[in-house]
Parts: sequence; structure tokens; C-alpha cells
Amino acid sequence: MLIKTFVLTAFQQNTRVVSCEATHKAMCIDPGEPSAKLVDYIRDNDLDLQAIVLTHGHLDHVGGTAALAAEFPDAEILIHKDEEELYFALPQQPLFMGIQPHQFAALGLDYADPPRPTRNPEHGEVYEVGTLKFSIRHCPGHTLGHIVFAEENERVVFTGDCLFSGTIGRTDLPGGDYERLIDSINKNIMSLDDDFTIYCGHGDETTVGRERATNPFLTGMYRSEPSS
Ligand SMILES: [Fe+2]
Repeated sequence: MLIKTFVLTAFQQNTRVVSCEATHKAMCIDPGEPSAKLVDYIRDNDLDLQAIVLTHGHLDHVGGTAALAAEFPDAEILIHKDEEELYFALPQQPLFMGIQPHQFAALGLDYADPPRPTRNPEHGEVYEVGTLKFSIRHCPGHTLGHIVFAEENERVVFTGDCLFSGTIGRTDLPGGDYERLIDSINKNIMSLDDDFTIYCGHGDETTVGRERATNPFLTGMYRSEPSS
């Protein structure tokens, strides 16, 4: 397996191309914005882009979907069913962050409607890219239909905005729920062995073992107390 990371958008989002070395089949995870470097990498390495896979529908993860799909029209577009409403709201998403419409263009946040997904992957499904086998796991909490995917033989998991090195995803945006996110992380990510490398949607890679031992949201150092 080859993993190529492109740090894109003002949000420093990790767009990735994951490919099977044996077959040159590839998927792009979360194209954050239109990128000539991303397209050139796929073409220059003779990769067969079979899919654009979206962990979730936030603008910094899906903003380049239309441009990439236009370059590779045979690639399927996968997003969880529960995430479609947020995904289709892409042109309105900057409003969630308090950005006003007259500011959209200057900030590069004037999005057109995104292309229709071709399929909704389900929890428990195994998605194959050449010889690679990714288990799809539904992890609500950051958003309603966030998915992460693990490759057991390669010992890697792609966690989008659920879990980062030393912290977790924000839960204050529409569809966010702190308790649900912690539950999702424990069931779907921390259930993996310590040696799994975690590829996050922002920031550096980490491991399941390191997060289990040091992430304050998982060790119990930070707790959310129910309000009375
Ligand atoms: Fe996000």
C-alpha cells in the first residue's frame, strides 16, 4: 500500500491518495479543494482512481470532489447515507462558521453544488481497492454520517475528523454530539490493536496505542459532566 498526503485548504486538511502497489488501483480520501498536484500525482503514477471516498461532508474534506470527479469521471463517489444532507449543503456550510455570503468568494469558499454520490457504503462493509481490504465503520459524533476505515493487514486506519493526535473532533457543528463521538471512537477505533497507525484528517499520524495511553479525551483526564 502507498499513501500520499496532500495538505490542502486553509484548514490544513489531509487529502490522501491510497493505492495498491500490485494493481495500481487507488482511492482518494477527502479531496479538500481542487488541486493540480493531486491530479498530476494520480496521472504521473499511472494510478487507476476507482473511488473518491468521503469520511464526512465538511467543506474542507469534500470541496475538491467536483473537480476531481471531472478529471476522473469513472471514479465512484462514496459517502454514508446519513451524511448526504450535510454534503449537499456544501454551498451553505461557510454560514455554519459565521462567514457571511459576501465573504465567500474572497475566502475561496464559494462552492457549487457537489456531484451526486454513486453509492452509500454501510457499516461493516469491506471495500476493496486492488488487494487492499478496508472495513467501513460508521462513527457518528463529529457529524451524523462520518465513516472511518481500517485495513487490517496493513495495520492502518483513516479516522477523518473523529480522532486526531492528542485530541478529538469538534462536536459543536450541526450533527455533532460529544458522547456519541466518544462512543464511536471507543467502539470503532480503540477496539483496534495498539500497533495500528492512525491517519487523521488534520495533523500528524499517530497510533492506536499512543492515543490509548495519552489522549486526554480517552484516558479519562477530560470528562464531560452532564449539566443539571
Ligand atoms: Fe470535519
